[in-house]
Amino acid sequence: MEQWFKLQAKHILGSDAKNSRVGKNHFAIQEDTIQALLTDGHPSKDCFKAPPLHPLHSYKMVFYSSVWFSRENSLLYKAAVSLQRTIARARRQSIGCKSFSLQIQLFLLLLLFGTKMQPTETFSFGHCKETADWLLARTTQRPRIAIICGSGLGPLADSLENQESFKYTEIPHFPRSTVAGHDGHLIFGGLKGKQCVCMKGRFHMYEGYPLWKVTFPIRVFKLLGIETLLVTNAAGALADSYNVGDLMIIQDHINLLGLTGENPLRGPNEEWFGPRFPALSDAYDRKIRTLAMETARHLGYTSFVREGVYCMVGGPNFESVAEARLLHLLGADAVGMSTAAEVVVARHCGLRVFGLSLITNKVTKDYNVKVSVDHHGVLEVSKMRTSMLQTLLTEIVGSLDCGERKETETCYQNGV
Ligand code: HPA
Repeated sequence: MEQWFKLQAKHILGSDAKNSRVGKNHFAIQEDTIQALLTDGHPSKDCFKAPPLHPLHSYKMVFYSSVWFSRENSLLYKAAVSLQRTIARARRQSIGCKSFSLQIQLFLLLLLFGTKMQPTETFSFGHCKETADWLLARTTQRPRIAIICGSGLGPLADSLENQESFKYTEIPHFPRSTVAGHDGHLIFGGLKGKQCVCMKGRFHMYEGYPLWKVTFPIRVFKLLGIETLLVTNAAGALADSYNVGDLMIIQDHINLLGLTGENPLRGPNEEWFGPRFPALSDAYDRKIRTLAMETARHLGYTSFVREGVYCMVGGPNFESVAEARLLHLLGADAVGMSTAAEVVVARHCGLRVFGLSLITNKVTKDYNVKVSVDHHGVLEVSKMRTSMLQTLLTEIVGSLDCGERKETETCYQNGV
């Protein structure tokens, strides 16, 4: 089943470019060709069949694919260049002229439906499964709980027992984390007797990643058999009553990017993971939130543990005064540059979610109050309260109800 691909490329011989009539000749590039190009850059002879080509004609290549490509996709550019070479080779062969040396130009014309609502490429179920299988083959641990450590909160991952650690750079399809304070390791290990997998370092949109890449680990977690996702982050306080160093249990979020169309679930829906239109009215698990409050009470943390609404923005700049006022008016108690996208994808595939923000700074809503905030400052405050956040989260993990798993069990064993 082929879908119209959203890209056309016209292919013009250099010497004839001015006179050529673009679109005079068409030939179709099928999906398997594109896949082959994207995989190794060399389309096999079988999957690429150029029609007889005339050296002085222009051609319009029409791509067909069920894959969605985005404007930023450099792979597509590489594929196009590779295709260009292949066509040149095919052309030389088809007209029997080996010394043919015409300069070729390739122009990619993206057919976009508006500038904002571009179609996006996403990782398929297959990509996620490849990554999950790679990990399952290298660890005997079969966790039910995944933890994402936000800015400066890596020590939580370091506290796991019997660690098995994988660098993001060695895990197939995993993006790399580029921010200071985000180390880039996936660590399996025990916390309070529960097997966990911990992301030490996460991915952000401001690093240049599309949200489907930012959230890729969540779907890998699902395929590893994870049932519960615990997310932590650093956030700036919008609520007047919040102080630097407070811990905020996330009751709900405002996914500002999602509201404006930048949603990690945009594009074809992977039905295996979840429905096209997932509900988010109960995104943050009520039972775990209650458990967290009780745990905070036991630990004597109530004076600095709150419950509130987190707002995700794209960053990387911190908010202007007018923006801070707006977000507060919208109902946000804290603002940060992560989490909501991951939670959307986690809820889509049915994970239970708990979120905890460390308030690293107050976001000023007053032009007369000078508060400066920088990433270094965020890391400093993280250090200060990290041990308490770690204690709270560790106790919560210890009290979570989750079943034991067999070493061989994966969540997609049956049926997929
Ligand atoms: N704004 C956005 N993200 C943040 C902030 C902030 O003030 N502090 C920590 N992460």
